[in-house]
Amino acid sequence: MPAPKPAPELKHLDHVLVTPLAIKRRIVALGHKINKDYAKKDLMVVAIVNGALIFTADLLRNLTGPLRLDCLRASSYHTGTKAVGEPRIVDQMKLDVRGQSVLLVDDILDTGKTLAAVAGMLKAKGAASVRTCVLLDKKARRAVPFEADYVGFEIPNEFVVGYGLDFNERYRHLPCIGVLKPKYYAS
Ligand code: IMP
Ligand code: MG
Repeated sequence: MPAPKPAPELKHLDHVLVTPLAIKRRIVALGHKINKDYAKKDLMVVAIVNGALIFTADLLRNLTGPLRLDCLRASSYHTGTKAVGEPRIVDQMKLDVRGQSVLLVDDILDTGKTLAAVAGMLKAKGAASVRTCVLLDKKARRAVPFEADYVGFEIPNEFVVGYGLDFNERYRHLPCIGVLKPKYYAS
């Protein structure tokens, strides 16, 4: 079967920040590190969807386990590319986190408000430990003091899409991380 054609939305990108190959290689390295740190521990991976969906799927296939997966949904009110207001957890997990070693996974650490709130909630619910893993870290945008334990790539202060990250719910399926041409952010 021939390979599918590249997504037409790739043409909306002004430039690519992280290529599919670089993402793949970095996730293998993150997997090695996490496997080492959690050797013999029963891990509970908690993905913040939708953004962390694709990253988590690829990361999990590099983890040796044992592990379980759960998801939650967090939301902040957005105007264009900026989140305004505090994040809310709008869809809770199914598994019980009490006494668990949790690895919280998100697509990007931006202001830090989402991960700070979700990590705080998991600790309050009785998780034994909570570490965080993000594919991207936009340090320049931090509004609350928060650092992730595992970071794929530090990126400059630009709004990015692809590999799970969206603009107005679009572009999540692109295989790379890139910056849109300005006219697409305007629409
Ligand atoms: P924080 O709470 O500001 O750290 O933001 C976390 C959430 O904002 C992420 O999980 C993303 O959903 C979203 N976000 C932040 N920066 C970007 C970006 O550059 N592109 C797409 N989504 C972003
Ligand atoms: Mg998100």
